[in-house]
Amino acid sequence: MLAAQQRTAVTAERNIDVPDDDRRTVLAEALPEASDDTPLMAELRLDAQRRIELRGRRFAPPPQTRVITVANQKGGVGKTTTTVNLAAALAQAGLKVLVIDNDPQGNASTALGVDHRAGTKSVYEVLIDGDPVEPAVQECPDIPGLFCLPATIDLSGAEIELVSMVARESRLRRAVDEYLAQQEAAGARFDYVLVDCPPSLGLLTVNAFVVGREVLIPIQCEYYALEGLSQLLKTVTLIQAHLNRDLHVSTILLTMYDTRTNLARQVADEVREHFPDKTLATTIPRSVRISEAPSYGQTVLTYDAGSSGALAYLEAARELAERGAAPTQPDGQTITEGTEPSRQEDQ
Ligand SMILES: Nc1ncnc2c1ncn2[C@@H]1O[C@H](COP(=O)(O)OP(=O)(O)OP(=O)(O)O)[C@@H](O)[C@H]1O
Ligand SMILES: [Mg+2]
Repeated sequence: MLAAQQRTAVTAERNIDVPDDDRRTVLAEALPEASDDTPLMAELRLDAQRRIELRGRRFAPPPQTRVITVANQKGGVGKTTTTVNLAAALAQAGLKVLVIDNDPQGNASTALGVDHRAGTKSVYEVLIDGDPVEPAVQECPDIPGLFCLPATIDLSGAEIELVSMVARESRLRRAVDEYLAQQEAAGARFDYVLVDCPPSLGLLTVNAFVVGREVLIPIQCEYYALEGLSQLLKTVTLIQAHLNRDLHVSTILLTMYDTRTNLARQVADEVREHFPDKTLATTIPRSVRISEAPSYGQTVLTYDAGSSGALAYLEAARELAERGAAPTQPDGQTITEGTEPSRQEDQ
């Protein structure tokens, strides 16, 4: 029986005349059964199903470029990891994507394998010198269609330099809008722009909020994860009122989810309860492969494409793309203030 299923699956995989979805169905049906009393087997089966479902899929481009700022003033919650891996997943699915590394740490540039040594043209020259974006953009060596505006160490001084500058909050927006318009006019429109932010709510993050239309907040499934969220939402509301009417929190992504702890589940439940429409169904698991990838100058999508971390980011990217370009609240309203969930009780 198993052999027959596998034969059908192999035929389906090779037969290019069979429609894509039919092939995926046949492949999924050919997977061996796994009972719940063998958790490892069940997990392997689930991963195999997700691989069949997701690998090689093309995502529909949005009707217009989606500019998404990935922000959370808490450090180490997975902003950069989310930015680069979602960007890689979207690009692998056939879309044209730009990552703006707006963090002096330059972690997104490192993970994408682009040059960002001191002296490299970067977001610093765009922000401070008013240079155009185009000469500073580099294509990611491993993933066609994925581009990066890198950050160098120079950016660490920008926060202070910006203070006395004219139009200090909208310098990035002006330059990026011009670049996106040029690309579109040349018939090479970007589908997605993802902006990585530093762990603060200073002028670099403000510039990132002014350039974005949507905000994606990664939330780490840990104790204290929700502290500071109301401050972040308040900042978004202020930016929307004074600097960028289009800005709204469109997406929340739960990261570093550890299935073995009750705390992770509690944090996830609480976030979903408060933000049911914003929180993606996909959660990103805590995964060694995800944390190893940047040290090879790679995203997990190229470092270990079959790993559960890569599949989770692919799934999250698919959800993001399917939620489409239409903002969840077309009137541009943001989440209201004062909705910060209570702090988690310890286990
Ligand atoms: N799902 C995951 N599983 C395991 N490790 C992860 C995961 N996501 C991120 N990490 C690791 O956690 C650390 C923090 O992640 P990351 O740099 O993406 O956070 P960040 O919010 O950008 O941090 P910062 O605030 O310093 O910019 C990194 O070492 C990263 O490799
Ligand atoms: Mg970061």
